[in-house]
Amino acid sequence: MNRHFRLLGLGLLLSAAGPAAAQQLDARKALKAAEKQYRVLQVETDKARRSAKPGQLTPRTGENGQLKLVGTPDWTSGFYPASLWYLYELTRKPAWLRAARAETQCIEPEQHNTTTHDLGFMVYGPAGHALRLTQDAHYRAVIIQAARSLSTRFNPRAGVIRSWDQHKDSWQFPVIIDNMMNLELLFEATRLSGDSTFWRVAVTHANTTLRHHFRPDNSSCHVVDYDPQTGAVRGRHTAQGYADESAWARGQAWGLYGYTLCYRYTRHPAYLAQAERIAAFILRHPNLPADRVPYWDYNAPDLPTAPRDASAAAIAASALYELAGYAPAQAAYYRQQADATLRSLSRQYTAPAGQHHGFLLLHSTGHKPAGSEIDVPICYADYYYLEALLRARQPRP
Ligand code: GLY
Repeated sequence: MNRHFRLLGLGLLLSAAGPAAAQQLDARKALKAAEKQYRVLQVETDKARRSAKPGQLTPRTGENGQLKLVGTPDWTSGFYPASLWYLYELTRKPAWLRAARAETQCIEPEQHNTTTHDLGFMVYGPAGHALRLTQDAHYRAVIIQAARSLSTRFNPRAGVIRSWDQHKDSWQFPVIIDNMMNLELLFEATRLSGDSTFWRVAVTHANTTLRHHFRPDNSSCHVVDYDPQTGAVRGRHTAQGYADESAWARGQAWGLYGYTLCYRYTRHPAYLAQAERIAAFILRHPNLPADRVPYWDYNAPDLPTAPRDASAAAIAASALYELAGYAPAQAAYYRQQADATLRSLSRQYTAPAGQHHGFLLLHSTGHKPAGSEIDVPICYADYYYLEALLRARQPRP
């Protein structure tokens, strides 16, 4: 790892000194490499399924030389099928279409799951792309049912969707910043069904989160615990960050992406303003390394040796491309920052071809305080990396 980052420093130095062409992001090349690598992941996944326990289906990470599969109730189960839809969108090859359809079918039972807030990731991710790319009305029904299931977790007194059912001994109604990502499912469900209930839940959740999750410096805490009877804030905490007061890197990226998507659907200026404030927090943070891949927490105590989180970088890069479309004054800056992040990810953080079970990005951190998934490849990093690469290729004004 140390050698890796020494080389990375040298690379940045050389590219800073080199001609402008050498610094350009080659999204086409990176996507081509990604397609090839995901063929390896497909083969490895099929192989792992043959010896896995029943129900372990979706590739999540590779740790200690093992490809880890998870069941469909896992919060990450939608990322692999959703990535396959991106590969189909990229190539239009029937083989990717068949694979994407089949893997999406696996996760569809989760549309009825009311025990998780992660249905945006699990169901809307794959089913949303499936509907967009095939126009098959079957996926419309899946999305609307998933939105119904998610809405059962909304508490009108507190004005938020419950995130977790666990931790009942310490928290009464925990809401995590990640939950902003699930609002896309609700906005889409209203668009598809005409039922504005989902929209109202999404906007109320976004407004409540805006009031209670953010600090004066525009970083967010991870968990806000509400009183479910009165809506009062009982406390602000962390689960996956370094400390209650620290800025967990992926949480900041979820917030940026979440408020950007809320602006996409509502054109509410407060959401755009919040997304821009989060972007400024991330991009100007003194602890953001020169390669734009954050440490797992901006306030990690052991900088500069703390593990990085490539997933946070990929999520933020993807969000910045979208945000650039809504913020003309900063558009060039956001695109340039997103390009630079992707350049760094594609040159320095990708797995060597054919290795690491076929995952794309190395060096993500899942849950550092629990000692879990530290410095690993992980399916959600790959998904947002693919999305960002596709967004990077879109025509620019
Ligand atoms: N939503 C869980 C995570 O970001 O790790």
